[in-house]
Amino acid sequence: MTFKRYTVLLLFAAALLEGCTSAPVKIIPEPLSVKTGRGYCTAGTEVEEILSPELSGRLGEEGYLLDVSRKAITAKAATEAGLFYARQTLSQITSEKGVRCVRIEDRPRFPYRGFHMDVSRHFFGKEEVEKVIDEASRYKFNQFHFHLTDNGGWRIQIDSYPLLTEMGSYRVMKDWDGWWKMGKRLFCSADTPGAYGGYFTKDDIREIVAYAADRHINVIPEIEFPAHSDPVFVGYPELCCDGKPYLSGEFCPANPAVYDFARTVLGEVMELFPSRIIHIGADEARKHSWKKCPACQALMKKEGMTSLDDLQCFMVSRLSEILKENGRTMAGWDEILKNEDLTPDTYVYSYRGEKGGIRAANRGLNAIMTPGEILYMDWYQASPEYEKKAMYGYSPIKKMYSFIPVPDTPEKAASNESLVEARKVGADSVEFILPECAANVAGIEGCAWTEYMPNREHLEYMMFPRLLAIAELAWSAPQNLSWERFRTSLPAFIDGLRARGFNVYDLHNAPEVTCDGSLIRMESENPLAAVRYTLDGSAPDAASPIYEKPFPVKGRVTVRAASFIGPEKVSHERNVVLEEGTETLDYYPLTYYPS
Ligand code: ACM
Ligand code: ZN
Repeated sequence: MTFKRYTVLLLFAAALLEGCTSAPVKIIPEPLSVKTGRGYCTAGTEVEEILSPELSGRLGEEGYLLDVSRKAITAKAATEAGLFYARQTLSQITSEKGVRCVRIEDRPRFPYRGFHMDVSRHFFGKEEVEKVIDEASRYKFNQFHFHLTDNGGWRIQIDSYPLLTEMGSYRVMKDWDGWWKMGKRLFCSADTPGAYGGYFTKDDIREIVAYAADRHINVIPEIEFPAHSDPVFVGYPELCCDGKPYLSGEFCPANPAVYDFARTVLGEVMELFPSRIIHIGADEARKHSWKKCPACQALMKKEGMTSLDDLQCFMVSRLSEILKENGRTMAGWDEILKNEDLTPDTYVYSYRGEKGGIRAANRGLNAIMTPGEILYMDWYQASPEYEKKAMYGYSPIKKMYSFIPVPDTPEKAASNESLVEARKVGADSVEFILPECAANVAGIEGCAWTEYMPNREHLEYMMFPRLLAIAELAWSAPQNLSWERFRTSLPAFIDGLRARGFNVYDLHNAPEVTCDGSLIRMESENPLAAVRYTLDGSAPDAASPIYEKPFPVKGRVTVRAASFIGPEKVSHERNVVLEEGTETLDYYPLTYYPS
């Protein structure tokens, strides 16, 4: 057992014990158990930290106990990680009044709590990456999935293949759509006038990995195979089937030099990243060039392969072997499920809905749930017609919060599937996780793909506060999840994010207006706002009635609704037609590109 002491820094020294409150504390993610006392512990109080490995039976490897009385603060855990999480909780219950008297027992639901950043489509430097890592650590994330290579640029120094960064990390135009519309998506050298891009040196990577480790976050590098590798072939065209750049983004699975490349590049990557899990991509290979490639065709014949998918499986198996030889574990997007030879330590990232995760779990593999239709942060978070261009469909924070990470009954799987497909899906038509396989869901992840996030401000706007919803799904026990409690906490957390310099989405979405066929319901995602509405076709204003509770729908009505704080309209307007006897839920198109 080890003891440590430090002093809590309060915003101001005077403890205001009067006006004590027993109002609930606002902690995200919600701890396992919270008992609030009355009053506050005063400024300058020392925190006693006790590291006690025998607590691992009760608290696991990441849990903690936190006891705050008016006179003392004690944190106990079996590991340094647990004490770190106790500190994060403590910082959330510390205010100018002191530290709320509270007794907390806490431990995470999932061992894998991930956030992802694509630094290829747009490049974000070390400072911004570290800023996001630091913020994510406040919400007890423990895995940073660092998407380092893709068709937007190669972002990591590799000494053995210097042309990866010399020729593949800058492009001739920053704007994503503009660059794609050029026909050839040209890369260039850093000194080309107008060049856009960048990459992380090995020292940068070491610094980021250490920075994350200080916050108990493991960094999982992703190096994409076989697809999304266009920048590789600018410098090393011999590694794709055509032998020329700009014709395909896919490696030739039949070329032995590709496996030399993989072994060497992954070798250098593994030197930098201590992570047991290494992600090899494996998503979205179109395989067109494999069809015409004599080497690919010859390999298929030799191995008795019957489809191009077999070629991809061949490559995935080789990559898995390379990682295993180095004591690492392969992770890949859900296409790797086509491989029948996956070993149980493999991590499968379910991004095309929940099915990949369900199948992975049922096969005894580690499933990471990151269904794009629900947990991707590049989708619109508010009415698309008012937002800057984003990817595909619509994932407001409530939709994210509604995701069920372990769909181990038909009903839970159907609830997720309804969100995925944007229509009501019945429990009789879905796959689900067998109860005995439920523990194979290692966790969940939120992904920030950055095609339409060209700068720091927009990256943060798309990530926050949605990442907090993902944090809560990843950490909190299912019985403690409550959209109502979570949303009530959000404004204070948004203030905190702003104070730390984040550009945060401010919950300005138009209210949700739904009807079960007989009753109309409305809700603003902003808990500080009231919903005002009209039924006569006029625009709602500060004099329109406030929605108080569900009310009957008569015949066919047009509801126009918006959120107001006092007289100020703080949301866009929802305008829907509802009909008696017809269920109208808040589903949105899966693909939406405003003109
Ligand atoms: C992916 O969204 N292509 C993983
Ligand atoms: Zn080939």
